[in-house]
Amino acid sequence: MEPVRVGIIGAGGIAQTHLRALSEVPEVKVLAVADLIQERADKTAETWHIPQAFGDYHKILQDDEIEAVIITTFNQAHRAPTIDALQAGKHVLLEKPMAATLEDATAIARAAHHSDKLTMIALKTRYSPVMQAAKTIMDAGTLGDIYYAETVAARRCGIPGGSFIRKASAGLGTVADIGVYCLDEALNLMGHPKPISVSGIANNILGRTCSPVLGSWQWVPEELEVEDFGIAWVRFENGAAMVFKTSWIMHMNEIGGTFFLGTKAGLKLNPLTVFRHEWGMLTDTMPQNIPQIEGIELFRREQRAFADAIRNNKPSPIPVEQMLLTNVIIQGLLDSAAVGHEVAVTVPEL
Ligand SMILES: NC(=O)c1ccc[n+]([C@@H]2O[C@H](COP(=O)([O-])OP(=O)(O)OC[C@H]3O[C@@H](n4cnc5c(N)ncnc54)[C@H](O)[C@@H]3O)[C@@H](O)[C@H]2O)c1
Repeated sequence: MEPVRVGIIGAGGIAQTHLRALSEVPEVKVLAVADLIQERADKTAETWHIPQAFGDYHKILQDDEIEAVIITTFNQAHRAPTIDALQAGKHVLLEKPMAATLEDATAIARAAHHSDKLTMIALKTRYSPVMQAAKTIMDAGTLGDIYYAETVAARRCGIPGGSFIRKASAGLGTVADIGVYCLDEALNLMGHPKPISVSGIANNILGRTCSPVLGSWQWVPEELEVEDFGIAWVRFENGAAMVFKTSWIMHMNEIGGTFFLGTKAGLKLNPLTVFRHEWGMLTDTMPQNIPQIEGIELFRREQRAFADAIRNNKPSPIPVEQMLLTNVIIQGLLDSAAVGHEVAVTVPEL
């Protein structure tokens, strides 16, 4: 396969992980990198032997040899490069979350929906063997009708610092950082039901009042501007309900895991188990030999899927229509937290 020729927009932390993964993905060739901070682009180009480095991403978009971009800017800077790249005729692999606000996510989704170029959201968890095994089980209809789910992503003390905790760069905290993974996991396994209402709470009391502990990330409590805790009760059009819980910090070792209750069976993700009544008995089925893979391999699988979809004219492996649902729920959580009661939510028309 002819390698897909890409440019990287944003040369921060996760761009380095993408580039490390790409060094073993011959299906993709990196021709340029851009960052607002020119020295960062230069250093990245030097480290990964990338021919061109720019301080302005438009230079990448003007290069006719470049077919696609990987966007690894912080959340509040996802909208402009994505829309500009699509308008310049480039395919886009955009880091999660799609955007920090529903408004930006909707603008991105509309641009992608009306473009003939491919837009894929980078969600490495979709490529985890456990997730894929769970999807196989659930897509076979094993659970019957799913009427309730809980999905959880929580750390006892794991607040990142820097751009992750500022409104201007990240826009959102734990809900968009680790929360979006478990939210997408649940929606993907449930077949993307349409959310209709959300009741949520969110705060950052602990992150602003506790000090970093031995061995934890060393965030500066006074700099924390985004939520470090968020919970939502979500109702869907099909009658199902879901609880979504995420936390960067808590005085607790764990707050549960991800599971689904259906009319024929239940499933929990960790360890992957299907709970049923069979033969007049209670049975627990645990699939065996699910491969364990390194985290970096998830990036490689995601990048190969992107390249394969471009070269073989396949639909986006992770399309904007699916990711928009996570933004609808997150916006509902924040709006509900602000007013103190359940709010109706609507999935925007594209
Ligand atoms: N897939 C994962 O495992 C994973 C992990 C961490 C972060 N992320 C996501 O990746 C994104 C970036 O996170 P990060 O940790 O690399 O952040 P970061 O702050 O380290 O890097 C972001 C970079 O984008 C640059 N930038 C911002 N606006 C720009 C613009 N208009 N043009 C060019 N460059 C611009 C910044 O200067 C910075 O260097 C976020 O959306 C985050 O959610 C994904």
